Amino acid sequence: MQIKKVGVIGCGLMGHGIVQIAAQGGCEVIAVETEQAFLDKGLARIDKSVKKLASKLVEKGKKSAEEGEAMVAKTLASITGSLDKNDLADCDLVIEAIVEDLDVKKALFAELGGICEDKTIFASNTSSFPIAEMAEASGRKQRFVGLHFFNPVQLMRLVEVVRTADTDEDVFASARAFGEACGKSPVSCKDTPGFVVNRLLVPYMVQALNMLERGDASKEDIDTAMQLGCGHPMGPLTLTDYVGLDTTLAILRGWKDRYPTEPAFEVPALLEQLVAEGKLGRKTGEGFYKWDGDKKS
Ligand code: 3HC
Repeated sequence: MQIKKVGVIGCGLMGHGIVQIAAQGGCEVIAVETEQAFLDKGLARIDKSVKKLASKLVEKGKKSAEEGEAMVAKTLASITGSLDKNDLADCDLVIEAIVEDLDVKKALFAELGGICEDKTIFASNTSSFPIAEMAEASGRKQRFVGLHFFNPVQLMRLVEVVRTADTDEDVFASARAFGEACGKSPVSCKDTPGFVVNRLLVPYMVQALNMLERGDASKEDIDTAMQLGCGHPMGPLTLTDYVGLDTTLAILRGWKDRYPTEPAFEVPALLEQLVAEGKLGRKTGEGFYKWDGDKKS
């Protein structure tokens, strides 16, 4: 099945980016939020981002000024905002990008199972929760995948396409093709904790936090070491700020509950402490570093 009409639930950090790339990929997109203010904020971010991307393409000579304007107009015209999940009934694909709380996600998919037509494929953008549990809750295990995008969605080229033991081959192929249409390079993964990227990335961030806690090196030196020594665009502590300390903590806590004996999933005390202090990283203006919008100050 070719994905033409997409619903995205949640228009926050990840959701707004997914809405945008789906629209840029030629889909008609409905963005659903719980409150008008959240919807307005997400749509404003999309407006700013697509204009920036188009102007960069024009600057680099990859598009003419008219083509850039057309890209912006077409993308924005393909997006509709809504506060009503019933508007998603005839979507080919509905992607969930809401808060990382498994019970809330399961309840949402149970509700969507009753709203959407039988053809609709469901996907979760969860960072770390088991896809199979949400699939079970939705009542349509065969038509369920993980579609895990990366932050910032507009710029990161990967999407992980996650299948459970029950995912239909056709559904999996449609989800992969959707990822490609959005300009991403899909990788396939089984329904394992953290899939590929977060299973490697989060324990690496934890090691950096532990180094900082032990006083092995300063935060600046840890970050510089990984940037210059390994060619990473951001060091691990900057990246933890960028992803969000609360998000990182939620991933670790979820894993620790499920796999209490796995040493890689130990939660650093420093992470708990900073989150308790409200220092969540870029989104609150302070984590390991102080932030002014997207830049460290
Ligand atoms: N839309 C449009 N343009 C954007 C944008 C967006 N959302 N975000 C940034 N840009 C623009 C910037 O404004 C900038 O434009 P300018 O050159 O005109 O100022 C340009 O893109 C490049 O941005 P930067 O100047 O910040 O330059 P960088 O070269 O540092 O690129 C980055 C930024 C792509 C974020 C890069 O630092 C990077 O790749 N960082 C690592 C990010 C990463 O690892 N993400 C994955 C996190 S893990 C995850 O998401 C999983 C989750 O489950 C936890």
